[in-house]
Amino acid sequence: MEETFDVKLVENEKYYSPPAGYREEAWTKDYETAYADFLKDPDGFWERVAKELDWFRLWDKVKEWNYPYAKWFVNAKLNITHNCLDRHVKSDRKNKVALMWKAETGEERMYTYWRLYRDVMRFANGLKKLGLKKGDRVCIYMPLVPEQIIAMLACARIGVVHSVVFGGFGANALNMRINDAQAKVVITADYTIRRGKNIPLKTIVEEAVVGSPSIEKIVVLSRKSETPVDLMKEIEVDFYGIMEGVDSYCAPEEMDAEDPLFILYTSGSTGTPKGIVHTCGGYMVGTYYTTKHVFDLKDKDRFWCTADTGWITGHSYVVYGPLAVGATVFMGEVVPDYPDPGCFWKLVEDYGITIFYTAPTAIRMFMKLGEEWPKKYDLSSLRILGSVGEPLNPEAFEWYYKNIGASRCPVVDTWWQTETGMHMITTMIGEKMRPGFAGKAVPGVKVDVVDKDGKPVPIGTGGLLVIQEPWPSMLRTVYGNDARYRQYWETVEGNYSAGDLAVKGKDGYIMVIGRSDDIIIVSGHNIGTAEVESALVSHQAVAEAAVIGKPDDMKGNSIKAFVILRVGNTPSEKLTSDLIYHVRMTLGPIAIPSEIEFVDKLPKTRSGKIMRRVLKAREMGLDPGDISTLEE
Ligand code: WT7
Repeated sequence: MEETFDVKLVENEKYYSPPAGYREEAWTKDYETAYADFLKDPDGFWERVAKELDWFRLWDKVKEWNYPYAKWFVNAKLNITHNCLDRHVKSDRKNKVALMWKAETGEERMYTYWRLYRDVMRFANGLKKLGLKKGDRVCIYMPLVPEQIIAMLACARIGVVHSVVFGGFGANALNMRINDAQAKVVITADYTIRRGKNIPLKTIVEEAVVGSPSIEKIVVLSRKSETPVDLMKEIEVDFYGIMEGVDSYCAPEEMDAEDPLFILYTSGSTGTPKGIVHTCGGYMVGTYYTTKHVFDLKDKDRFWCTADTGWITGHSYVVYGPLAVGATVFMGEVVPDYPDPGCFWKLVEDYGITIFYTAPTAIRMFMKLGEEWPKKYDLSSLRILGSVGEPLNPEAFEWYYKNIGASRCPVVDTWWQTETGMHMITTMIGEKMRPGFAGKAVPGVKVDVVDKDGKPVPIGTGGLLVIQEPWPSMLRTVYGNDARYRQYWETVEGNYSAGDLAVKGKDGYIMVIGRSDDIIIVSGHNIGTAEVESALVSHQAVAEAAVIGKPDDMKGNSIKAFVILRVGNTPSEKLTSDLIYHVRMTLGPIAIPSEIEFVDKLPKTRSGKIMRRVLKAREMGLDPGDISTLEE
């Protein structure tokens, strides 16, 4: 732990009352009562939620807690796609729109539940034809297109574990993830579209799979059927090609509640990413419950979560949660400021979006560009706004509340993680909102702010954010590295350590301050200092590198790298661009440093560990604190 806990909260008493009418209509009408119900009988609480869904066999026991290992819905059998598709197809929702998609090119598509169900089953049968079976791993590296959702659900249909890798990662990052999961198949597309440019994906996959002996096939989506991309016959097959001539029905594989559903990689404190493993039953129940209650999702809503499906936010709140609830989901292959900064608001108007969920970094960008952009559009369809990924600072909260929500939409600032699978802290609809504070634990979850010994810190004092009881959608392990999993529960004995610093107000509302470890949240993306450092050190000119996060008004943090060159190399602008290019090609564009400083030495402890805290303090003109362990 490099950070100190010297946060002292000066309490302001600024609240926003919930807009009239919401509370009465909400699924959770009264937070305090719902929370008390949960505390009275935690297993009963989750059992009631689980019973709203379909199971092939019910559980013998709701939960089995064998610290630090939890099983939820013991011996229950299910398939999540049955709940996301079949359940609706058999109901009034058969012809309801499940998915509306629009790309920045203007192209658009709609899928009813029936249509999505059919495509998922045909693609699932296509995957079976490739020889895939329950328990195999498949890597999905695709643009934000409906086929990505079809691919994910098709894997889940047949019990194949998917590992989605965000399209902004480079070949080396993709290669590491494929190898770690020993994926047999990669599903990709010829290209992704961003700000008017086609960015190739297939060529990156081809580079990434060299040295991935587990890979048997690459499935390629040709985005334009008029101009299909050339396939390498020995290994590549066409996305729609494998759907030809297959049965249109594919029975859902009967999964145990504890069978893995997917792996999703997140940054760790070492150079290797951690494969967070989520299971079928608990994840389904947790994402279903939070989608319904935190967003207060009703049948008539049109829900837009702007996250890419490559992140946990997309998994839980573009795909599994909303579809389990039976929502109409909007998905946009768009960025917030292209072709102009009004494009999101135009989409809200055109598609009649009622619930909008985005990241503080986007809100701060909109704030900078001015309220004239949202003013051009009719945003009156909106009824709930959400935020996720990093702290929503009070200024951004107020701007969002007033200018997007017209001071009549509750804002839910949701704190959670890849590891938690679902929302953990927020201010439920109908409760008073406190700008700067995410809120309280959602019913079903127990959290606190504690010191290193697990003792609650006094109100207003910074501490570690921990989760005190297992929850259904918690990670079950780190793929192939169970020791790393146990660390989450060992840092603060008996608790799950989130790795975040937080502070609690007098009212019990929690303000999340930031990471307490070596992870930098850049524009809401989780980036490990160690990953960027090892990418830099893999360049032939670099001897050593240290990376820090520097507060940034727009991005939350930006990456600054300190680099020691190998003898024979001299700092130059050319070398700076070479290093940036190198990081772009290995880790991907999301991880490039915005600043590189060449130095002769780095502050280290006597045992040789780089003291990033000292670099950061110096960078910000602050007192570096205790440097007694600093090497001479
Ligand atoms: C980290 C998890 C879970 C969705 C996206 C990120 C930070 C997330 C908030 C919030 C303050 C937040 C934390 C957390 N974070 N939401 N509402 N307020 N910080 O998932 O990539 O696993 O990152 O994002 O630092 O630990 P992730």
